[in-house]
Amino acid sequence: MHRISRVGVIGAGQMGSGIAHVCAMAGFDVLLNDVSRERVEAGMATVDGNLARQVASGRITEEQRQAAWSRIKPASTYDALADADLVIESATENEALKRGIYTELCAVLKPGAVIATNSSTISITRLAAATDRPERFIGIHFMNPVPLMDLVELVRGIATDDETFEAARAFVMELNKKISVAEDFPAFIVNRILLPMINEAIYTLYEGVGTVDAIDNAMRLGANHPMGPLQLADFIGLDTCLSIMQVLYEGLADSKYRPCPLLVKYVEAGWLGRKANRGFYDYRGPTPVPTR
Ligand SMILES: NC(=O)c1ccc[n+]([C@@H]2O[C@H](COP(=O)([O-])OP(=O)(O)OC[C@H]3O[C@@H](n4cnc5c(N)ncnc54)[C@H](O)[C@@H]3O)[C@@H](O)[C@H]2O)c1
Repeated sequence: MHRISRVGVIGAGQMGSGIAHVCAMAGFDVLLNDVSRERVEAGMATVDGNLARQVASGRITEEQRQAAWSRIKPASTYDALADADLVIESATENEALKRGIYTELCAVLKPGAVIATNSSTISITRLAAATDRPERFIGIHFMNPVPLMDLVELVRGIATDDETFEAARAFVMELNKKISVAEDFPAFIVNRILLPMINEAIYTLYEGVGTVDAIDNAMRLGANHPMGPLQLADFIGLDTCLSIMQVLYEGLADSKYRPCPLLVKYVEAGWLGRKANRGFYDYRGPTPVPTR
């Protein structure tokens, strides 16, 4: 396989824009795609703002910012990705939607190119089977926010060949990220461990063992976590937390992963965390106020 130099990113949201950012900083040419020109432009604006913030904080130079920025180009159709060596799909977490993307993408993508998904929960093996190249398909799972987080999980589907795995590994190392290799089982490693802890914190709240403040302080000060589990849940998004717990519960058929009914209630209320301005904390005032 030739060295990866041109990277397509599908989905210019929270994660896709971060992935485009770190790829461009590492010297890759990046094509950023989304459903509309407006969405691509919004993703580009996010990258622009985050690069500027990195210059302001002294983490990168103005020259590095300019060089990275010049490497990212908008791509409003999949045709523009035809020449990519690697396409990282980071679109909305919905299996049917991702399958639809692969059908259209495979029709134009060059045969040797690798397709990766940034999916947090969907089986890599199942997604690979929806492409014309399961052996050249792999999970490259970035953490949020991508420019700040060091870890990437590499997940092989059952058919992923060694050449693809090694190309993905070399690519991630060029991004200056650290790799954990995970087998293709529900939620991989980080979320398999993290989400049951968050779910247990919500049960602790639900059963009245502690208040939001007591639970978050306990884990910050007593377990040295940088953020309390309920604050972290709000940051991830409570709908995302619920969907990961559902994947664990169904995928592993084990009652220990049962989503807490209080989590379900918050999601039903639309109290999804920071993005909705309300979750386990209310963010509408100057400082977050616990909602329980
Ligand atoms: N948010 C996280 O913390 C996190 C962490 C790791 C991985 N992920 C994974 O990253 C992926 C994206 O998540 P996100 O948080 O960036 O979501 P997001 O909602 O911020 O962005 C998703 C983007 O995909 C676009 N999209 C939808 N259909 C598309 C299509 N057919 N073609 C091109 N673009 C399309 C949407 O318009 C949107 O801009 C998901 O698979 C998710 O599981 C998320």
